[in-house]
Amino acid sequence: MEQQKRYGHFDDKNREYVITDPQTPWPWINYLGNEDFFSLISNTAGGYSFYKDAKFRRITRYRYNGVPMDSGGRYFYIVESLPQGGNSQPWSPGWKPCKTPLDFYECRHGMSYTRITGRKNQVEASVLFFVPLGKWAEVQRLTLTNQSQQVKHLKLFSFEEWCLWNAATDMENFQRNFSTGEVEVEIPNLGISTSNSKVEGSTIYHKTEYRERRNHYAFYHVNTPVQGFDTDRETFMGLYNGFDAPQAVVEGRPRNSHAHGWSPIASHYIEVELQPGEQKELIFLLGYVENEQEEKFSAPQVINKDKAHALIASLDTTEKVDQAFAELNAYWDSLLNIYNVRTRNDKLDRMVNIWNQYQCMVTFNFSRSASFFESGIGRGMGFRDSNQDLVGFVHQIPSRARQRIIDIASTQFPDGGCYHQYQPLTKRGNNDIGGGFNDDPCWLIFGTVAYLKETGDFSILDEQVPFDNQPGTEVSLFEHLRVSLNHVIENLGPHKLPLIGRADWNDCLNLNCFSWDPNESFQTTENKSEGSQAESLMIAGLFVVTAKEYVALCRHLADRGWHPGLADSSHDYQREADRMEKAVEDMVEAVKRDGWDGEWYLRAYDYFGRKIGSKECDEAKIFIESQGWCTMAEIGAEEGMVDKSLDAVKKYLECEHGIVLNNPAFTKYVYEYGEISSYPEGYKENAGIFCHNNPWVIIGETLAGRGNDAWSHYAKILPSYVEEKCQTLHKVEPYVNCQMVAGKDAARPGEGKNSWLTGTAAWMWLTVSQYILGVKPQYDGLEIDPCLPATAGDYTVSRHFREAEYTINVHPNGSQRGVKAIVLDGKPLEGTLVPYAPGKHTVEVTM
Ligand code: GLC
Ligand code: GLC
Repeated sequence: MEQQKRYGHFDDKNREYVITDPQTPWPWINYLGNEDFFSLISNTAGGYSFYKDAKFRRITRYRYNGVPMDSGGRYFYIVESLPQGGNSQPWSPGWKPCKTPLDFYECRHGMSYTRITGRKNQVEASVLFFVPLGKWAEVQRLTLTNQSQQVKHLKLFSFEEWCLWNAATDMENFQRNFSTGEVEVEIPNLGISTSNSKVEGSTIYHKTEYRERRNHYAFYHVNTPVQGFDTDRETFMGLYNGFDAPQAVVEGRPRNSHAHGWSPIASHYIEVELQPGEQKELIFLLGYVENEQEEKFSAPQVINKDKAHALIASLDTTEKVDQAFAELNAYWDSLLNIYNVRTRNDKLDRMVNIWNQYQCMVTFNFSRSASFFESGIGRGMGFRDSNQDLVGFVHQIPSRARQRIIDIASTQFPDGGCYHQYQPLTKRGNNDIGGGFNDDPCWLIFGTVAYLKETGDFSILDEQVPFDNQPGTEVSLFEHLRVSLNHVIENLGPHKLPLIGRADWNDCLNLNCFSWDPNESFQTTENKSEGSQAESLMIAGLFVVTAKEYVALCRHLADRGWHPGLADSSHDYQREADRMEKAVEDMVEAVKRDGWDGEWYLRAYDYFGRKIGSKECDEAKIFIESQGWCTMAEIGAEEGMVDKSLDAVKKYLECEHGIVLNNPAFTKYVYEYGEISSYPEGYKENAGIFCHNNPWVIIGETLAGRGNDAWSHYAKILPSYVEEKCQTLHKVEPYVNCQMVAGKDAARPGEGKNSWLTGTAAWMWLTVSQYILGVKPQYDGLEIDPCLPATAGDYTVSRHFREAEYTINVHPNGSQRGVKAIVLDGKPLEGTLVPYAPGKHTVEVTM
């Protein structure tokens, strides 16, 4: 491969990715905020903010897929008054939107913060962006430094554009929107005030629709008096100017405009004088406030600003902001301390210790809602997605994972089926898409078991959880798990394999949708389900894996004499385990009998009962999903099926950039299959490298003891390896996984798309932490069973686990799998399970 241009590099010591050229091949973004208030920020400060829900509480406006790309964000414009008179060309520290060439540019994306620095004509402007813990606000700390020998006179303009809250209607309902916009301005030094607060500084409030049903508003504050401001976009920009050249900025003269309808914005104008070498700091704050109904107004039509003032007062000095930033960093120290590895491979360590875990937090928070590929107005939280995401996150903040499990289970139906998605704000199932994705129920077990093993908190199984959020329908969470698996075994097809419903994990294999109408959604058009014989081998494997977990859980509960939970009042967990064990055996038999194609596992049977993913097919003879799940389930291992399947993956699906989803790619639309063949060859679910499912095969490889193959599949999609090899081709952020990399049949194999919000994050984490490095939480302790490439050297994992702290030193010996001896705190141990005991422990592992 040709030498590729580099746009940045990792800084492991600071846990940052440093971008040194603003013109990245695609906006490279970061996420700010950890709980309620969130922002997306690109390397040129583009992006937007929202409170909890990117659709219903959008705070600032963003235009997707704009020309130029990534238009709109929190922008600072700097104009220098030149000694000879007149103004310099405006410039921005993040290069955009002005695009004035800078003498220096750097963007550092760190853990929930971003620092962008630009320098022009010996003035440096550096902005630190972050959302303090527990605060509903984005801090923008701007540091201006005069690096010259002359006095500098600067005119500084800030800029935010408000979104009218509902991000969907904000982009379409202009006949209304252009008349509703309202603001208030509080700039005491200019004599403009709507309250008698003693708050220093200057604040612009956005209160559209506050007069009626909304009880929330936003504000943009700076902790200093200003010399002017603007709140009306047209006045500030000039109707025909772009973000790069607002009229007010170009003329160096704010208009003190007051928005009435149209598009409200917030811009402060500040004159800054800097002596040679002098540095000044300004703190900008973009905040969000909710008021109680009775306390909405302080005077007729005037918003009650008490909470805003309190929020501002908590972050109005450099010291307070420093403190908040230190707390954020300490928070990340503690999160990243929980699982930490030291190997001889920097590229592995930085992904395991920093970026993979960071991405897991982000996917946990956002599911698939808001990124530069997900508009934030489309889908909410996915049932299957969120269950998988929490597996990558549960070790970090188990209590949040616990709540998530309850929220997800509350969107289940009494028969075990589930809403496919729910809205984070309301936590209600999403009716637009409904249910009928027959893999969904199994994932609840996948998520819950991960939580139980991490925490040992079995009380969650007793939580009373409703169906479809209907009060009065509550049953224990354990009962939810039970109906989940029942849903699979009560919906078997002619081969005794699971009926697929609308789709399984692959949303695009829509076997009960026969569509010739482009106005129909593949996801929701289920026009051919009556009498359907469409069965899924992916669900079969998923069922075996999760039902075995359930059996083990039941046996564990029986051993512990655990009582509450089972609705049939027998409280007999052994009997329940036996029942499910029988179902697992039946499923295994069904897969061996009707799911094996000779060299690999079939993918599915279609509506008519014809094979999908078989050598008999013209195209798409083999698919990854069933190879992944049936090898993870170890179905037919004794008969050699697992090894054959894994070999077939290498032979037919593996390519330079990863494992493609199916092969050969579909070259024409197959009416009976739905969305999958709608994609051109090599993209998305039609033979793209759908990174999410690569780890399934990798785990299958580790269970089969094939450490070399596992590692080589893993390294192909490990961001740090891709970063070194091809930043330009890969295009999207090199510090996180993306959902899809174009496959071997695509026009540009290796090109990445849909970065950040992908189940790949959690799966890469599970794979490396538990199966490759081999430290796996179990109910009673940590199981140590690594599977490594033959070349692996010694390494150490530090693992905080419940109330214990383990230092695990692993000494590989060239064999790929197989622990020979474990010594715990100086004493030899039988087997591979390190029993849980609070305190500090050292574990020596010889392979
Ligand atoms: C997307 C969806 C996920 C689905 C996958 C494959 O990542 O979020 O739910 O499983 O695509 O279609
Ligand atoms: C589209 C995408 C798929 C995603 C689905 C979610 O079909 O291709 O990846 O899972 O939408 O609704």
